[in-house]
Amino acid sequence: MAASCFYLWASPPGVISYPSQFRSWTHVKTQLIGAQSPFFAGSGGIHHVYANDKALEGLKTGHYSDGSILVFDLVEGREQAGVTVEGARIRVDVMLKNASQFPGSGGWGFERFMGSDLTKGTLDENGRQGCAGCHRNRSDRGFVFSELRP
Ligand code: HEC
Repeated sequence: MAASCFYLWASPPGVISYPSQFRSWTHVKTQLIGAQSPFFAGSGGIHHVYANDKALEGLKTGHYSDGSILVFDLVEGREQAGVTVEGARIRVDVMLKNASQFPGSGGWGFERFMGSDLTKGTLDENGRQGCAGCHRNRSDRGFVFSELRP
């Protein structure tokens, strides 16, 4: 009995489900990555960053408790008569804090959902390590790049 309860509550390592409610969380920031940027090929478009309540606390203090979730929501940026508007969703990148589940990457699990199929994550172990490798540059801020502004 105890074992099956544990199984129900603990997701296997690396498995993060799509946070379908994130559009009602706190919007942290938005950036437009245009064609002149070296990041255009990989992340061109308009991205919005969202934080759930625990992650919001982390953004304020630099310390993220288990259950903190941050989302990087990337959509196309389309030019319309001098105005850049949102197009189709490209992908959703997710960071979920669980110190005991993800001890090798600052306590964060990483996942990527493609706009064409948000139901399942697409990263393998190599991919996750790629995410963590870059986010580790921000270990002084809990692995998180974005900062809150007033
Ligand atoms: C080469 C560096 C690099 C890699 C690799 C990278 N990221 Fe990031 N990530 C960033 C930067 C820089 C930002 C901040 C973007 C901004 O300022 O709007 C960011 C932002 C994020 C955010 C929002 C929280 C934050 O830290 O600001 C999430 C969630 C995220 N990335 C997930 C991922 C996932 C998942 C992967 C792997 C598939 C990944 N990242 C790979 C550099 C990277």
